Amino acid sequence: MPSPHNAANLGDIADRVLLPGDPLRAKYIAETFLDGARMYTDIRNVYGFTGTYKGVPVSIQATGMGVPSFSIYVQELLDVYKCKKLIRVGTCGGMSVAVKVRDVLIAQGVSTDSSLTQQVFGGAIHFAPIADYDLLSKAVVNAKKFNLPVKVGNVVCVDRFYNDYSDPNGVFGDGKRSLNEKMVQYGILAVEMESVALYVLAAGAGAQALAIFTVSDHLVTHEQTTPEERQTSFNDMIKIALETAIED
Ligand code: HPA
Repeated sequence: MPSPHNAANLGDIADRVLLPGDPLRAKYIAETFLDGARMYTDIRNVYGFTGTYKGVPVSIQATGMGVPSFSIYVQELLDVYKCKKLIRVGTCGGMSVAVKVRDVLIAQGVSTDSSLTQQVFGGAIHFAPIADYDLLSKAVVNAKKFNLPVKVGNVVCVDRFYNDYSDPNGVFGDGKRSLNEKMVQYGILAVEMESVALYVLAAGAGAQALAIFTVSDHLVTHEQTTPEERQTSFNDMIKIALETAIED
């Protein structure tokens, strides 16, 4: 077995990989959207599948939640399996009121409280983690082609799902506004927990990366959705991701 956390042999994983956090979502995507899907790993029940979409080999690799778990699976995809196009398909929490629950959102860039970029650059450079422009522009064109609205912009990738950033009197605020409000002022659309690792690790390996999300909850409006509505926007996101993944 060439990698400690993945049972795949070399050649089992396609160059193009979709990355959901949830293993059961990986299974759903593989069974619903791919032809001839075969599971190549179930170590820790973090499933990976390879099949074809419109005749092109595509893999779906679950990653777990948060930068540390995500980084393990993605670093191995890059270093061991030499994957070239990585598209995260996840959920995010809306922060800007311009973003609605169920929207599909694409991370053009990522701000973060994670120490990952500091670890990589030794603190000397505040690296700007950005989407691969080719994948980003193709995803926007594909979304338009299928009449699926998408929003593109900056997101914040956080280490703690439960943090203090909404507190106006907290150490991160200025006593008048919470850090969340300040981030929205500066154009941050939503919060999530993995994409900084995707953009930094892929950049280091010379691979293409893109993070696409559905907005599952909203920190300000607390909008609710039904499971059916969530499933529809999830399927829209997967269609955009797969159509983008298979293009050359
Ligand atoms: N916070 C962080 N990550 C998330 C959220 C959130 O509210 N929703 C989906 N991913």
